[in-house]
Amino acid sequence: TANTPLVFKAIRSSHPRSTAEREAILANPGFGKYFTDHMVSIDWTVEKGWYDPQVKAYGPLSLDPAASVLHYAQEIFEGLKAYRHADGSIWSFRAEQNAARMQRSAHRLALPELPTELFLESIKQLVTMDALWVPSAPETCLYLRPFSIANENFLGVRAAQKAAYYVIASPVGPYFAKGVAPVSIWLVEDYSRAAHGGTGAAKCGGNYAASLLPQQEAYANGCSQVLFLDAQEGKYLEELGGMNIFLVKKDGTLVTPELTGSILEGVTRASIIQLAKDRGHKVEERKISIDEWRQGMASGEFTEAFACGTAAVVAPIAALKGRGFIAGDESAPAGKLTMALRQELTDIQYGRLPDRHGWLKRL
Ligand code: COI
Repeated sequence: TANTPLVFKAIRSSHPRSTAEREAILANPGFGKYFTDHMVSIDWTVEKGWYDPQVKAYGPLSLDPAASVLHYAQEIFEGLKAYRHADGSIWSFRAEQNAARMQRSAHRLALPELPTELFLESIKQLVTMDALWVPSAPETCLYLRPFSIANENFLGVRAAQKAAYYVIASPVGPYFAKGVAPVSIWLVEDYSRAAHGGTGAAKCGGNYAASLLPQQEAYANGCSQVLFLDAQEGKYLEELGGMNIFLVKKDGTLVTPELTGSILEGVTRASIIQLAKDRGHKVEERKISIDEWRQGMASGEFTEAFACGTAAVVAPIAALKGRGFIAGDESAPAGKLTMALRQELTDIQYGRLPDRHGWLKRL
């Protein structure tokens, strides 16, 4: 219950991968393809609250076919990373922000809220158990994926009275196959991502499921992300399929869509805003119409654009494409400010620059 401190039971896997297998994976991890030897699970019921926290062997979940998550998508997730510094130590980045966002997502999806201390402890437990899986090559790290599902076996449509929280971990390199090379994005016209009052600000699987059909259109047109406009007017930039978006003006001002309740409150987004302000750049969080951006690209008012998220960090955007048009230049090099902010952020994350905002925690 709420006032009993929960102690994790750690059960070491009886079948961890061999050193040779692990090293082969760490040498070329890709993104989200391989998982470590262990996982975290914590169960929840209305009566007991959170109970039985464990770190145990990674493996399949057993779900009843009537489990509510399989029918009504009562599910939320998070993404954060653990970084190995040059001295071998391992650090998390702003993990309490992920804990807080997961609580907000849980609230929106009528799932139980995991207390911040338990979230942070679950990360520490898993990373400590699987420390050998935190890679050390440049631009690699351990991506952590906490998630929570409703698993009451009941088909009535109401908040489940039984749920579970898990954390899995995946050694990763760059999110995009091309690394940090500039990407093109595809303007979605027939679909929107999230409506006013919907689940747009929650990190729930359904938001990402809804992005997959337009994402196929993007791939077919040589673009690696979709750009969604607001659902009401189909006019203002919202976000990409799985990342926030920033534009840079020729005077160095950063412009990014304001948080309206339908946009994911990115931790990388917030960190970029802070770093840009620290450098003396103006940052505008406001509505940006697609026409403003397209005209501004043509006139030279907007000189750079980038996507950002935990997985991709900062990804330069070279061009915006849509039915019958290309704005920007698909072969343009990455923007200067874009790459400088990316460099500074990763330098902080990997311990190459002082952590002046206290964003890192040793695990
Ligand atoms: C992230 O971790 O950056 C996400 O939003 C999830 C997905 C795009 C990998």
